[in-house]
Amino acid sequence: MEPSPQAHVMLVSFPGQGHINPLLRLGKLIASKGLMVTFVTTEQPWGAKMRQANKIQNGVLKPVGSGFLRFEFFSDGLTDDDEKRTNFQAFRPHLELVGKREIKNLIKRYEREEKQPVRCLINNAFVPWVCDVADELQIPSAVLWVQSCACLTAYYYYHHRLVKFPTETEPEITVEIPSLPLLKHDEIPSFLHPSSPYAAYGDVILDQFKRLENHKPLFVFIDTFQELEKEIIDHVSNLCPRVKFSPLGPLFKMAQTVSSDVKGDISAPASHCMEWLDSREPSSVVYISFGTIVHLKQEQFEEIAHGVLSSGLTFLWVVRPPLEGSGVKPYVLPRELEEKGMIVEWCPQERVLAHPAIACFLSHCGWNSTMEALSSGVPMVCFPLWGDQVTDAVYLVDVFKTGVRLGRGAAEEKIVSRKVVEEKLLEATVGKKAVALRESARRWKEEAEAAVEYGGSSDRNFQEFVDELVTKSVARKDNGKHS
Ligand code: UDX
Repeated sequence: MEPSPQAHVMLVSFPGQGHINPLLRLGKLIASKGLMVTFVTTEQPWGAKMRQANKIQNGVLKPVGSGFLRFEFFSDGLTDDDEKRTNFQAFRPHLELVGKREIKNLIKRYEREEKQPVRCLINNAFVPWVCDVADELQIPSAVLWVQSCACLTAYYYYHHRLVKFPTETEPEITVEIPSLPLLKHDEIPSFLHPSSPYAAYGDVILDQFKRLENHKPLFVFIDTFQELEKEIIDHVSNLCPRVKFSPLGPLFKMAQTVSSDVKGDISAPASHCMEWLDSREPSSVVYISFGTIVHLKQEQFEEIAHGVLSSGLTFLWVVRPPLEGSGVKPYVLPRELEEKGMIVEWCPQERVLAHPAIACFLSHCGWNSTMEALSSGVPMVCFPLWGDQVTDAVYLVDVFKTGVRLGRGAAEEKIVSRKVVEEKLLEATVGKKAVALRESARRWKEEAEAAVEYGGSSDRNFQEFVDELVTKSVARKDNGKHS
């Protein structure tokens, strides 16, 4: 089959599941509209893992709707055991140097050899240098923000010094950002706190904000929906009218409207867990996952395990092996754990959260997990560690009202006891509070479904982008540029 798509869009992702998932969902949507999408990330270790888990072949076109999607993985030039890969401070400038060169070469190759000039470049915020490539090659571009609009606004306020944030001399001040609830010092995205050991992550995000000023992206897409964060979206849009903020979420639900088996998981899911869920009573299972990066202290892991066991609830728990080169030890599991529930290394989380057997989700509150739970009508027991997770927990508990708080974050340096774990799990699953949480979650599920329906807020925003892309693409063809 000879593809004749209207435009070629290249998506460049930071190598991490929380970044790849939303960008790939966007990629599927774009392809489904009859466009050609090339999804790019690094070969090591992500490309290799993604290929293995999802039977992906480099550069091979997969039909998606009336368009096509393919993957391209580039080498970061490091050996397998290079410690730079697990030291973000060192990896970041290295990736920028190599990434700029590789993306430019790829764009030029597609233009010269395949006659498929790239009409739009889209990156997520951990690879802001993609905007420089777009500027240099004069390609229109867009950014996908993979956290909440509340977090985006907090970074915006920090970057422009619009309100006071904690400093070394005043580390415990509360932050007042219009349209957000008052955020205590440990509730702002933690990378912005002077005591954060992960400041390099904050720096890379702030680099994206610098580029919003000089470089003019067509859109900043946000994986949220208008009805969920209306006041904040309106506020930041008024504050910064030069940038078109466009809520397109929940992207996982938007992507479900496209029939495609393209996936970017790093592991193959345990196939038996869905059958196991089928055998459980409705609202009887606690789903537990701390995403793909967080690694708990062994002592905390054990307290959670014993809390879950003494709650008497059945559970499905994703226990990830440590990331290669991270130097952390695999968890030692209490012996009784495997007798009482199911432990897997990876599950199809979207499907798990949509399963009627799930009663609640004990989570680190990464934004993907937050959106997936909220839009599936599942209450959460919030155990945030760092970054946007601590702010997401505030929203889940106080604003969205679908969560109970189990911890305040890693900065607290506290081990939450098994007794508290048991209490919070029961609070979220049995009794009055549990009913109220479930009711709020049900309402958000309906709002999310309405946002992604034909004519819903996210669907309209997405269509606006596609129309602009196609118009721009046609105009460029007429001008004879890049072809
Ligand atoms: C990271 C950060 O930790 C998070 O704070 C930020 O918001 C996004 O980047 P991560 O830790 O991977 O994300 O968590 P999360 O955002 O929840 O994303 C995990 C993704 O992996 C979700 O889309 C989830 O559905 C998927 N997943 C996880 C599976 O499909 N199966 C699993 O077994 C576990």
